Amino acid sequence: MGNITITEIKKDSYVKIFLDAADKNFAAIGYKEHGLRHAKLTSNIAGNVLAYLNFPKRDVELAQIAGYLHDIGNSIEMHQHTLSGALLAKRFLQRMNMKDSEIIKIVTAIGSHEEKDIVPGSELTAAVILGDKTDVHHTRVRTEKRTGLDEHTRVNLACTNSFLRVDAKSKTVSLELTINTKIIDIGEYFETFLERMLQLKKAANYFKCMFVLYINKNKFL
Ligand SMILES: [Fe+2]
Ligand SMILES: [Fe+2]
Repeated sequence: MGNITITEIKKDSYVKIFLDAADKNFAAIGYKEHGLRHAKLTSNIAGNVLAYLNFPKRDVELAQIAGYLHDIGNSIEMHQHTLSGALLAKRFLQRMNMKDSEIIKIVTAIGSHEEKDIVPGSELTAAVILGDKTDVHHTRVRTEKRTGLDEHTRVNLACTNSFLRVDAKSKTVSLELTINTKIIDIGEYFETFLERMLQLKKAANYFKCMFVLYINKNKFL
């Protein structure tokens, strides 16, 4: 049984069909992009987090796979997408003959990636949270409307750049955001995304790293 690679996962038509369906479900209710773009970005960041923190290569690849599949459950519905996503991924990874010892790591990360009250229980979960919750960007907004938008959409619209910097030496994970304050002010950003910032902080703390937030080059956390 060989190692299943992220390249094989990305090529698989099953995953593409389900991620596409997830995105269509969100599009139907006017929610932000939740398809291949979000999957790829979360996968890249989750992998980079472990790579920069000097985890073994295979762990980096497992984080990439977990990141890529983390929202696949939205193809069924959004409220329990962590649970449905974990079960969909389990079935899919078993079909690909992934080792059980690796499948369990991935389904745990998928199943726990929206947890708000607890510190992540594994490096894969923490890496996926860092990848997922960093993805705030104006390109995710689908509507052309610029008035009457909910806060969440406005925060995404205002965010023109989002970068997660991981520094193993100083044990720091920094989220660097560029926000157009003509669309939202910084206070509104915090009102809307405070919970998300706390999730990122817990995920960084899992790696015994400090979490720092920069908005328009000013340090906030
Ligand atoms: Fe999610
Ligand atoms: Fe997500």
